[in-house]
Order: sequence, then C-alpha cells, then structure tokens
Amino acid sequence: MILAIETSCDDTCAAIVEPDGRLTLSNVVHTQTEHARYGGVVPEVASRAHLERLDGVVEKALSDADVSLGEVDRVAVTTRPGLIGALLVGVAAAKGLAYARKLPLVPVNHLEGHVAAAYLADPTLEPPFVALIASGGHTALYAVDEDRRMNLLGETLDDAAGEALDKGARMLGLGFPGGPAISRAARDGGEGRYEFPVGLRDKNNLDFSFSGLKTSLLYKLKSMDREQLEEELPHLAASYEAAVVEALSRKLLRAIDLDGAPAAVVAGGVAANASLRRKLERECAKTGTRLVVPPPELCTDNAAMIGAAAAHSAAIAYPDYLSLNARSV
Ligand code: KG4
Ligand code: ZN
Repeated sequence: MILAIETSCDDTCAAIVEPDGRLTLSNVVHTQTEHARYGGVVPEVASRAHLERLDGVVEKALSDADVSLGEVDRVAVTTRPGLIGALLVGVAAAKGLAYARKLPLVPVNHLEGHVAAAYLADPTLEPPFVALIASGGHTALYAVDEDRRMNLLGETLDDAAGEALDKGARMLGLGFPGGPAISRAARDGGEGRYEFPVGLRDKNNLDFSFSGLKTSLLYKLKSMDREQLEEELPHLAASYEAAVVEALSRKLLRAIDLDGAPAAVVAGGVAANASLRRKLERECAKTGTRLVVPPPELCTDNAAMIGAAAAHSAAIAYPDYLSLNARSV
C-alpha cells in the first residue's frame, strides 16, 4: 500500500492507494477554512494549519482504509510546486514516517498528481492522451506519452483559470474559493448577457491568457451602482464563467485536434466546474474522443492523486531521502 501526503496549498490531505495506483482505499481532505476571511490563501497561515492537522489526517486515512502503518510499503509526498512552507510540512512528515519504518519515499510533482487522478477515475485509461490542468495556480496543456512523460503544449501567459475565477468572485463580492461561488451565483444568469474577452481566442497556439477578463469585469463593475450590481450579478457571473469555460475548452479541443490524441484528461480544481464538464462531454462525443474528467473530489487537491502518480514514479531508497527538499516551482 502507498501512503500519500499532499500539503502544497490550503488542503491537508492523506490517502491510502493500492500499489498499482488505480484504486484509492481512503482519501482524506481537510480544507482549511482559515483563509476565507482574507479572500485568498495566506501562506504562513496554511503552513501552521497543516502542522496542526496533518497527524490526524494521516491517522484518519489509515483508519478509513482499514490499513495499519505496518501494511504501508512506500510513502509518497508532493515536493513541488506549491507554497514552500506548506510543502515542507508534508515533506518532513513523509520523511519521518518513511524513516521510522525504513520505507522508500516517492517525491511527486503536484501537476503529475493532478493528471494521475484520471487513472483512479478510469482504471482502464492508458496514455497517450492530451491533458488540461486548470487549477488555482496552473493552467497548462500537456501531451502525455506512453511512458507517462508530460510534454508541455501550452500554458497561461498570466493568471491561472482558477485564479481568474477567484479574483472575479472577489470583485463580485462572492466567497472564496471563487470557482464554486461563481457557479452558484451564475445559476439563473444568462451567459450571453455580457461580453467578456476570451484571451488568445484566435491565436493559433495553445497558450491561455486570463488577465484581460479580470480587467473587463473591473470596468463593467465601475459603471454600476450597488443596486444594478445586485440585479446583474447572476448574469455577470454566468457570462464571466462562460468566458473561462470557452477559453479552456477551445484550446483543449485544438490540442486534441493537433496532437491526434485518442483521449483527453481534464484535471485540477477548475475541472470540477459543471459547465466545463458538460461542454467538453458534448464536444468530445462529437469527435469520438475518449474524455476522462475525474469526479470533483479527485479534481481539487487531494492525496489519492499523489499516490496514483507515485505508483509509476521512481522511489528514493531508505535513508537517502533525508536530504530531500521541497521546491516552490
Ligand atoms: O487544484 P486546486 O484544488 O488547487 C490548486 O492546485 O490550485 O484548484 C483550486 C482552484 C480554485 O481557483 C477554485 O476556485 C477552483 O479550483 N475550483 C473551481 C471549482 N472548484 C474549485 N472552479 C470552477 N468550478 C468549480 N466547481
Ligand atoms: Zn492542485
């Protein structure tokens, strides 16, 4: 069994994953609520909260899976990219657990973890495929080859898709995280009521840009008084969300087309978005592309995906990992 730990941002996570990385026996996520009042993640607050929570989260992952520490034969942990202080809490805990039991340790890249969630969602999935990762910190397209190597096809030149949703939500006076908050507010809104720019829409590349979207919202809000904003909120939210969905799906579909990939994976927190999922299901059905979008709880940060990635990554033997470090990028 693989014991996996993930603490790269504001979720304290641990999971027990089967050795082939295709099934998770438990997946415990403690989402830190401390950040809500600041409208964004405060790194130092995140590190401290991980420190307080991680032991309990690991214990729960073991007990939910009905697995004892003695049955664990490797420990996996996110080492990069992420908030450095937050990552260090997970890395130190993983080292301690692995060292105490003389186990190997597998360092995992968080982005490879997001993609690996697809193997848990669909255990029959095999590369090659095109992968879109859209999260709070990253938005990028990759061609994943037969050996699971990720080759970058394009990425955002400025904000990440999730960041655009989080910042948009803040401007609209909605909660954090912004993605789900905007979706809720957009429920009865018309997505064609406002025109928002879709960055690099007609550029013949696979890059993204979300900064113009934010600015466009800012200007629209400046011309409204409080009453107007309240009335227009569902429409603004729906139109804003639609622009993000359009940017992501347009470039993913172009990547599928250019790469000739038989399958596509969408991962990262923004992949939990219902409207994005619906649109891509529709479009991929048209072209006969196999689409794997993990269930929402495997899209947002979790440790099961880290365990799934670790199943196919090189382990560092005991005790060589004591000098292992975390990296923010
Ligand atoms: O992957 P993730 O949990 O953490 C990072 O690695 O960043 O992604 C978090 C991002 C946030 O920006 C959040 O607003 C967005 O994912 N998100 C969503 C949804 N759930 C989370 N965006 C759109 N729709 C959702 N349902
Ligand atoms: Zn993430």
